[in-house]
Amino acid sequence: MAEKLFIAKEVSKEAKYKSLIPQIEALITGETDLIANLANIAAALKFGMDFFWVGFYVVRKDELVLGPFQGPIACTRIQKGRGVCGTVWETAKELIVPNVDVFPGHIACSSDSKSEIVLPVMKNDDVALILDVDSDQLDDFDQVDSIYLKKLMNTLEQML
Ligand code: SME
Repeated sequence: MAEKLFIAKEVSKEAKYKSLIPQIEALITGETDLIANLANIAAALKFGMDFFWVGFYVVRKDELVLGPFQGPIACTRIQKGRGVCGTVWETAKELIVPNVDVFPGHIACSSDSKSEIVLPVMKNDDVALILDVDSDQLDDFDQVDSIYLKKLMNTLEQML
């Protein structure tokens, strides 16, 4: 297993994803432990894409519980339908929030977080995990993030 990721600098966001995502997929393929894979995905995205916060929430009974993440400490439990993550859990649909301050019920784990993208990870037609990526810049996420993060989450889904 590689010990270091090659991280492309001074290139477009898409070029970074194109270089990074296959490396992450190689890193998690062949490892069957979910927590280990979630931890490495969070670290690889945080440092590879220079995001402010990257992490997973795990569906546990009637709430989301904080899983492996990289970045400042975060809220540990989120109820269904609450905030961006709870909404994505309820609807099973990805959300891009350009300005978290105007998202109704947004849960501010850090006042430095300005925009976010949240994706569901499915198992047998139910949401099993939530990937949450936060930026300290407004309007930092678009379809490029959506395409590449969804591709990575599809790989993860096949391992669940
Ligand atoms: N902002 C999220 C909560 C998680 S933290 O950003 C890490 C939300 O509204 O669901």
